[in-house]
Amino acid sequence: MEKYIINGNNQLSGEIKVAGAKNLALKIFPATILSDQPCLIKNVPEIEDTLRLWEIMEDLGVKIEKNQTGQYTVSTKNITKTELNNELVKKLRASIMLAGPMLARFGQVTLAHPGGCIIGKRPIDLFLEGFKKLGAEMIDNGETYTLKADKLIGNKIILPQISVTVTENLMMAATLAQGTTQIKNAAMEPEIKALADYLNQQGAKITGAGTPEITIEGVEKLNAGEFKIIPDRIETGTFTILGLITNSNIKITDCQPEHIENLLYSLKKANAQLEIGSDYIITKPSKLIATNIITHEYPGFPTDLQAPFTVLMTQAKGLSLIHETIFDGRLFYTDILNQMGANIIMCDPHRIVIQGPTQLYGRNVVSPDLRAGIALVLAALAAQGTTVIENIYQINRGYENITERLQKLGADIKQINQ
Ligand code: EPZ
Repeated sequence: MEKYIINGNNQLSGEIKVAGAKNLALKIFPATILSDQPCLIKNVPEIEDTLRLWEIMEDLGVKIEKNQTGQYTVSTKNITKTELNNELVKKLRASIMLAGPMLARFGQVTLAHPGGCIIGKRPIDLFLEGFKKLGAEMIDNGETYTLKADKLIGNKIILPQISVTVTENLMMAATLAQGTTQIKNAAMEPEIKALADYLNQQGAKITGAGTPEITIEGVEKLNAGEFKIIPDRIETGTFTILGLITNSNIKITDCQPEHIENLLYSLKKANAQLEIGSDYIITKPSKLIATNIITHEYPGFPTDLQAPFTVLMTQAKGLSLIHETIFDGRLFYTDILNQMGANIIMCDPHRIVIQGPTQLYGRNVVSPDLRAGIALVLAALAAQGTTVIENIYQINRGYENITERLQKLGADIKQINQ
């Protein structure tokens, strides 16, 4: 069983480079299926999630190779089947991102209900409704379901709820549909704009990505593609909080601060001392004051930074209210923080109140999911004594070489297999 052993309470120093965005890499590789031409992808995060996705794609016949400069070439001209490997799909919710491109290119795709984090119900009703709107027929085979369409037909799709991956999936599927598609109430995350830029560079005709209304004019085919993945804004925010919670001067480099403006607004309200450049952030020791947040789709406060921010507020003076509006299972990790010395009351599954500051103490804990997992690492680095974290697969799947990168900052963390 792999575990982290962390001795907390040291100040850190130095620089940490932000990796390519996980939640863009998990869409860009599926997007390569839309074209039968070769694609070159740069700044790829080498994490468990991308490795799992590549396994599923290689099982379909896609060739993915890393060249000497660390860039990835993708060839999709020899895809031999349209059934996704069930076992692999169950390990990765993002595998559903293959549905739209496969349906658009081959007219058929069969997949099991996707897996992923245990952060509340993860339905796929909006995906299925969207594909049907584009003319696809859905056949329920029990364990799996098949989507079929000789040719997708452009349509007007109004999303009843904002969904990042539904927006991305339908946008990709619509690039090869006959006619024009309008997606209303679309998600506006930076990764969606980046995905549209990549597809447009290959000959797609997408306008409005990054706004609530996206229009896609279907084209016959897409050309070859070459793309550099944007910096991971969740890593950027997480490392900024890391510097603050350990009272350290650290520099976060190769990032895009404008993608976490809402977090930076809340950190400034909490009296965080930060120097913000065009592609870097420097943290300084700060006397933090309690600050409330409410998560919201982009450009609101990102739900993926809620757990790290909650840990930070355990070190801030006063009462903080955290309101998680997106997922219905993303606050239960706070029980673990209370075992470490935090003073958090759960008002209901969507709201907690934190009384700070309280001294945190090392404990033996289990990471419940990806973002709560990294938050426990932050708590352990701020705590007195030793923390052992189990189930660290959940953390490694989203943060590339995280132990080595934290060790370089002076963190006393090691990964053991016991
Ligand atoms: C994306 O998940 C991200 N994942 C999540 O990051 C992120 O937390 C989330 O967007 C919100 O920003 C990837 O991009 C791979 P949603 P996604 O569809 O698209 C409901 C991480 O930690 N919904 O925007 O799956 C759903 O239940 C991950 O990196 C339906 O009801 O999230 C939720 O309440 C976690 N039916 C709401 O929409 C559907 O068919 C928003 O979810 C689909 C979604």
